[in-house]
Amino acid sequence: MAIKINCTLSAMLVVLAGAPLMAQAGPEITFSKDIAPILQRACQNCHRPNNIAPMSLLTYKEVRPWARAIQEKVAARSMPPWFVDKHVGIREFKDDPSLSDDEIKLISKWADGGAREGNAADMPAPRKFDDTGQWHIGQPDLVIQSPVAFTVKAKGTDWWGNLVAETGLSEDRYIKAVETKPSPKGGARVLHHSVQTLLDEEGNPDGGTLNEYAVGKNGDYFPEGSGKLMRVGSKLQFNVHYHSVGEEITDQASLGVVFYPKGYVPKHVVRTVQVAATDLDIPAGEENARSDAYYKFEKATKVTGFMPHMHNRGKAECIEAIFPDMRVEPLNCVSKFNFGWQIVYNYTDESAPLMPAGTILHVINWHDNSVRNEWNPDARNWVGYGERTNDEMSKAWVNFYYMTDEEYKAEMDTRNAKKRSLTGRR
Ligand code: HEC
Repeated sequence: MAIKINCTLSAMLVVLAGAPLMAQAGPEITFSKDIAPILQRACQNCHRPNNIAPMSLLTYKEVRPWARAIQEKVAARSMPPWFVDKHVGIREFKDDPSLSDDEIKLISKWADGGAREGNAADMPAPRKFDDTGQWHIGQPDLVIQSPVAFTVKAKGTDWWGNLVAETGLSEDRYIKAVETKPSPKGGARVLHHSVQTLLDEEGNPDGGTLNEYAVGKNGDYFPEGSGKLMRVGSKLQFNVHYHSVGEEITDQASLGVVFYPKGYVPKHVVRTVQVAATDLDIPAGEENARSDAYYKFEKATKVTGFMPHMHNRGKAECIEAIFPDMRVEPLNCVSKFNFGWQIVYNYTDESAPLMPAGTILHVINWHDNSVRNEWNPDARNWVGYGERTNDEMSKAWVNFYYMTDEEYKAEMDTRNAKKRSLTGRR
């Protein structure tokens, strides 16, 4: 809707302002010179042959028929998939593929101007892809497959279970980045989620959640000097949830890990928690049902990333810090949550929020159980918390590590000093 209104408005402006606007028009915007570099950076990782997107966007010939659709998707910020609101809180994230306002304007003008190719000599060199597995975290040092290739029938009830694999490690190693993937051929359609936990030799959980996967997810990266421990002799448990999609599909998830060098012991160990509201009470037809969840950091903390998680009625999530002195600071909002893209927003090492001991992380979620929500499976019914895709959830997965009060103070001082010197230079 918003796009249509904008188009009408800008059309009116052109009619009203007519000649002066034309007179100001700069050099022609072309695919080769202006658009291809943007698509290379932000789109082609998925939009190329044999990848997850429905069409390839490598060449002008491939892109031209999609010019209008591209204009619409980028203007609505539904492509590339990245839904954190740029106008609230922290702005810097690792591997942020999102477009700047200027890039969106450029694409829009190009499409409106007839989506010209321009001079082929202006084309940038094709982007090179490292196709060894297409992991977001880069080539993993270790890939552990779930022990079972699980066939999900075309029709049937959801299936949950634990599948335990050997890690095969011969010594303790620290993890720098970790990612879970379903099988490339359709696995993502049936694997609703998979939560991985390391188990010690007795089969007890060792170190909390290692990594979680849900549709469209990328990977978790930990700041330099922090990581998670994988002990020799430990096993890896995949807690999987499969659901039928009308077609028989076999999936075998795998977990990829990038390690720190052998023998390296990071200063901080990263933990992953779910900050969840489980008492959901969402009336039929309700457009804006709010739920709240809290987590108290007992020690000084650095939050390294968060991933909102709801189901089809999920609408938006905001996270904020409530400091011990009751000051409240917004951290981030994902204002257009999309169940199809469960994205971890990994902060950069400099932007990762620091909090003193006793700070409470407050997670606020909104669900839309009305007919206005095109993904809503049934607006006529009340919905509550539950594991099935048609039930709802309300949580944030949060990665963080504890630090000493001295480390916290030292890092705050460094950041404040940087801020001061930046201001001083202006
Ligand atoms: C992380 C992978 C990924 C990235 C990055 C990505 N896309 Fe997509 N795109 C998809 C997938 C998967 C779909 C189909 C499902 C959906 O719409 O969510 C899609 C759908 C689309 C569609 C709609 C196609 C249709 O059938 O109507 C357009 C247009 C599009 N993308 C354009 C872009 C553009 C332009 C960019 C970069 C600015 C981009 N995408 C970046 C994965 C991606």
